[in-house]
Amino acid sequence: MSIISAPNALKPNTDNDFLPLQGTDYVEFYVGNAKQVAHYYKSAFGFQSVAYAGPETGSKDKASYVVRQNKLTFVFTTALRPDHPIAEHVQLHGDGVKVLALRVDDAESAWKETTSRGGKSCMEPTTLADKWGEVVLSGIQTYGDTIHIFVERNNYTGPFMPGYKEWKTIYNPPSTGLLYVDHCVGNVGWNQMDPWVRFYQDVMGFRNILSFDDNDISTEYSALMSKVMSNGNGYVKFPINEPAEGKKKSQVEEYLEFYKGEGVQHVAMATSNIVETVQQLKERGVEFLQVPSSYYEDLLSRVGHIDEDLAPLKELSILVDRDDEGYLLQIFTKPVEDRPTVFFEIIQRKGAQSFGKGNFKALFEAIEREQSARGNL
Ligand code: FE2
Repeated sequence: MSIISAPNALKPNTDNDFLPLQGTDYVEFYVGNAKQVAHYYKSAFGFQSVAYAGPETGSKDKASYVVRQNKLTFVFTTALRPDHPIAEHVQLHGDGVKVLALRVDDAESAWKETTSRGGKSCMEPTTLADKWGEVVLSGIQTYGDTIHIFVERNNYTGPFMPGYKEWKTIYNPPSTGLLYVDHCVGNVGWNQMDPWVRFYQDVMGFRNILSFDDNDISTEYSALMSKVMSNGNGYVKFPINEPAEGKKKSQVEEYLEFYKGEGVQHVAMATSNIVETVQQLKERGVEFLQVPSSYYEDLLSRVGHIDEDLAPLKELSILVDRDDEGYLLQIFTKPVEDRPTVFFEIIQRKGAQSFGKGNFKALFEAIEREQSARGNL
């Protein structure tokens, strides 16, 4: 069995941090039709229009839409020609996450520190400038075709970055209360979890703060293993999943099969009022996994006192779990595209810094019902 290796594993530790991160700068998705995807995230999730790049701004072969909600920034990018690498990415993977961008004070130092430790460069330090100042970018590859871009923007006051213009629209649906990226989970192949754990340790200076083995994360039918990597100050957390043997196909295997390789499985977005946020998301058409009502029968005996009324949690299928420091509430969307790949988690932390281990079984049974309906279990 598993769980936290050291008593203070979840506590921040910034000693000797060679890659200080201020958090997630943005998440960029490569998609088939960025204009429509941007509209979906505005309508369904309550993001606001921020910036646009395309032929009108000098970007002749791709278009990007930037949307934001509090500290969450998503970029949706599409190719304008079929022989473009972005079109090939979408052809292979479907719509998916290409970039997990991390905010730094010094993008050149981030690049030097990581590439000198074995990180494979995908972008040498590059300075972009316009009338609003300058942004320095650099990048390294991570699992699958996913990359990390280091973003230095302390000297920039524009809407997003050079090359983009402000995107104003008359259609501005209200926010749903989503605040920031809590964590981003990667799915990797068989026996690839530990190599990627070592990558985050050695190349990026992250620590393994939690581990779950297949005894923790299994149902009657399928299993997976997971290790949570955190940077020094704890602002950036990347759990890494790999499939494990079960009677039937692991959800991670289904992902790998349909994404055609390793990639981002889910992005967890924080809220300070999960009941209100999920109510609004549901009204706007976001679909969530449901757990059976029996989940709520002995919930309070499992997690103790919680501030929220049980009725709305049950009605919305919101899950609760407790650890030594408090509790958390969470819920998972169904995949947001036709391939069963990327989905979202909505999470509200009330002290707990963990990831809902107590919910894994109920959750994975819910995922298996969906897998089975797709004929992929
Ligand atoms: Fe998660």
